[in-house]
Formats: sequence, C-alpha cells, structure tokens
Amino acid sequence: MTTSRTIRHTIAAVRTLEGGGFVVHRPFPTRMLMDFDPFLLLDEMGPIDYAPGEAKGAPDHPHRGFETVTYMLEGSFAHKDSAGHRGVLRPGDVQWMTAGAGVVHSEMPDPAFARAGGRVHGLQLWVNLPRRDKMIEPRYQEMPSERIPTASTSDGKVRVKVIAGEALGVKAAIETRTPILYQHFTLQPGASIVQPVPSAYRVFAYPLSGTGRYGDEQREIGAQRMVIFGDDGDAVTLSAGDEPLEVLLIGGVPLNEPVVRHGPFVMNTEDEIRQAIVDYQAGRMGEIAH
Ligand code: FE2
Repeated sequence: MTTSRTIRHTIAAVRTLEGGGFVVHRPFPTRMLMDFDPFLLLDEMGPIDYAPGEAKGAPDHPHRGFETVTYMLEGSFAHKDSAGHRGVLRPGDVQWMTAGAGVVHSEMPDPAFARAGGRVHGLQLWVNLPRRDKMIEPRYQEMPSERIPTASTSDGKVRVKVIAGEALGVKAAIETRTPILYQHFTLQPGASIVQPVPSAYRVFAYPLSGTGRYGDEQREIGAQRMVIFGDDGDAVTLSAGDEPLEVLLIGGVPLNEPVVRHGPFVMNTEDEIRQAIVDYQAGRMGEIAH
C-alpha cells in the first residue's frame, strides 16, 4: 500500500538576472532556502520574449564539483567548452554536464535564434556531486528530445518525460552519479497521478504552468512555486485543476556532506575552494577557443 507524502512547505521563485543579464525565476538558492540536498540550484530561464538581437546568455565561466542539467522548453542555446565540445540545445533537449574537476563553458543564444528573436524558456538544475566524484573527468550526456523516454497513462490524460529515474514503467536514458529523479509531467484538466518516490529520496515539485493540487492533502498551488514534500510516504500525488498542468518532479537521495560554495565552484572544504580558484586562474580548467 502506498502512502502519499504531505507538503512540508512551499517557496515562491524569485525573479532575478543571471549571467549576461537573462531573466530567471529561482526557487533556490534564495534567502528562504540555500540548497535542497543533493540539489544546489534551480533556475527557470524566462519565459521571456526577446526582440531581434536582444537575447542574452552566459559567456565563458567555469564550474567544478557538481553537474549542470539544462532542459530547453522554447528557444535554443548554443554551448561551447574548454574541451572543444560544441552543441545546440533545442526545445525538448537536455544536456546533463558533469563538470567534475572542471570545465570552462559558455551558454549563449544560438546565433540564428538571437538574430530572429523569440521566446526563451528552459531550466537549469545543479546537482551536487558526492565527495568521491568531485574531481572526476568532465562528462556530457546530450539528449535530443526524441531520445528522452516518455510514457502515458492508458487514458492518455497524464504524460511524462523521464529525464532521470523511472515513471509509468519507463526508465530514463541518462545515467546519474547518485540516485536522482527528474520528470516532466503534463496532466489534462482533472487528471491525477500517484508517482512512487522511494522513501530515501527528498523530493519537490516545480509547476511551470497551471494551478494544481499537491500532496496527500491536495492543496491548491499555482505556477512558479516550489512544493517541498515531507519524508512521510513512498509516493507523491499530483493533480490538475480546471486547466492543463505542466509540472516538474525532482528528487534525489541527500549526500549529507559539507557544502562550501563559491559562485561556480561547489566543494566540501574552504581549502578545496581556494584550490579551485587557483586552478581556474592558472588555466587548469582550460579555456574556450573562439
Ligand atoms: Fe554554466
């Protein structure tokens, strides 16, 4: 018998400017919530409509000690990195970048998109790496939309895109370093889903659009508010109201390790942060050939 988790609390996303000045809605880190072990940050990029030539991005910057997961919904981003890696993310695509010991990369609007203008909407999630993995070789998992497994309920009222973990009998194609679930659910009006979440996972929902009802108590909550569930069950219940609901369900097993963060570096000790700064300044994370 499954027990549906209750809501512990909710946190409104804070609108802020990131990188070269692009608009994000950020549920964490904020004054209200510094991290959500094993996650360090969630940014909803936009949604924002850019005029021709106006689209913004994040020019060359380093990362060490964690993973960045970029999921495009609308618009496109071109990325480049210090290992000579290049790619374009289009709507529905996911890039799971394990920064490990360090990369320098840029995330900029695709030039054709920047010229034409248009809507940018996407997500970036930072997944912390356990101490044992912080200095591993960088790795990319590039998943075009068509390679990301999806599933539906038999009545077709609930669809899910399985970026990490498992839902509706379908397993993700992406490999994670620690147990992670990352699922994008689309519910038709009135539809409901009970998603199993193993008890060791901490889990939250982040609604992108539509007012839904959440948790065992089925509390009504609108978009752009992080819904944090308690540890009091082995499933999460999500329901749509009178309009379709687009919602992310994200969870993982906490690392329970010290977190020392300094901008784009997230390590376990102050010494490791100092080393990261030294290594970056000495060019040991490489640079992007332009
Ligand atoms: Fe980045």
